[in-house]
Amino acid sequence: MKVLVTGGMGYIGSHTCIALHNAGYIPVIYDNLSNASIKVIDQLAQITGHHFDYIVADIGDKTAFASAIKEHDIQAVFHFAALKAVGESTEQPVRYYQNNVANTLSMIEVMTALNVKKLIFSSSATVYGDPQYLPIDEQHPISSTNPYGWSKVMVEQVLADLAQSDDEWLTIALRYFNPVGADQSGLIGESPKGIPNNLMPFIAQTAVGRREYISVFGDDYDTSDGTGVRDYIHISDLADGHVDAFTYHLNHQHAMTGCHAYNLGTGEGYSVLDMIKAFSTASGVDIPYQVAPRRSGDIACNYADANLAKETFGWQAKRDINAMTADTWRWQTSYPNGLED
Ligand code: NAD
Ligand code: WQD
Repeated sequence: MKVLVTGGMGYIGSHTCIALHNAGYIPVIYDNLSNASIKVIDQLAQITGHHFDYIVADIGDKTAFASAIKEHDIQAVFHFAALKAVGESTEQPVRYYQNNVANTLSMIEVMTALNVKKLIFSSSATVYGDPQYLPIDEQHPISSTNPYGWSKVMVEQVLADLAQSDDEWLTIALRYFNPVGADQSGLIGESPKGIPNNLMPFIAQTAVGRREYISVFGDDYDTSDGTGVRDYIHISDLADGHVDAFTYHLNHQHAMTGCHAYNLGTGEGYSVLDMIKAFSTASGVDIPYQVAPRRSGDIACNYADANLAKETFGWQAKRDINAMTADTWRWQTSYPNGLED
């Protein structure tokens, strides 16, 4: 079965292409390269032994999107393409709503017209807003505090209404907690442009000498050591979760349509200092850090109840914090400046 992977040259999409290929699906990548390198194609070929077909185009280009679906006989779409920086979204809300919401609506119009009615959507734990209870399950109230998070909430609402209006549609929203790590090959990984917003790439760049030290955004939270706690999930476990969810829904008559949402997390929280310590162990490098004021908008603690995915389609995260840090380190030392060099 051929599936279109929008944003497939990005961090999560590229890793999911490996998992899809290994499960016997045929991923076709669709990416405008706004936040990725075309070199990912060759890296994926080294890892899988297969040169995936790809289209360089924007998901908002209806003609290009329709051509991709028709020319490759696409049966389903894995939708990773989006802008994802929370801070940037507060400065450029319209750009985020245009790219993440309006362009998704454009995609859905084309898919409907071509009778391709299976969509797996990259959602985010950010749709839960400030946790009202922990661990967070799929019944937790939905809200957000920033345009990026609202863009995910809005698309999830579109998917729910779409499935309600047309019983041929299958929509699956996968709510990622904190994806980290890299394929064990060390050939692909996260390479944010500019100064990393996220913790793990910043730690990795500090360990390899690209950054002088890491700022710990607050050590006065109500957590074990005062620093923020998150549910970090290995990117390869996350990729496997996409394949397992999709395969389950394809193969179970009662679940072949409708709107579904699942948390993809480990159910375990680690603090900032836990991550720094684990990375030091993995890299053999002492990582300098300085405590800084809290980052605006940050929450103290967040981790998943991922039992619905486990009970429904048998998925659970397998890779621990040591694998997350060791695999990140292998990627960081192999490609200190990402794939751009
Ligand atoms: P990424 O930036 O590495 O990948 C996104 C890809 O989409 C990039 O290759 C980019 O070039 C492409 N893209 C963006 N807009 C496009 C457009 N209009 N047309 C075609 N291609 C376009 O980001 P990622 O970390 O891989 O995230 C993938 C998805 O997962 C996003 O939807 C993001 O919101 C979601 N997500 C990410 C995280 C995280 O921490 N990384 C957490 C939760 C959810
Ligand atoms: C993790 C912890 C920080 C950097 C974000 C988005 C979310 C999703 C995942 C897209 C926090 C601390 C961080 C640093 C630090 N992305 N930190 N120093 O904020 O949980 O989630 O990425 O969907 O929407 O909000 O991840 O990695 O930025 O922060 O102390 O230099 O590390 O305060 O406690 P976050 P993060």
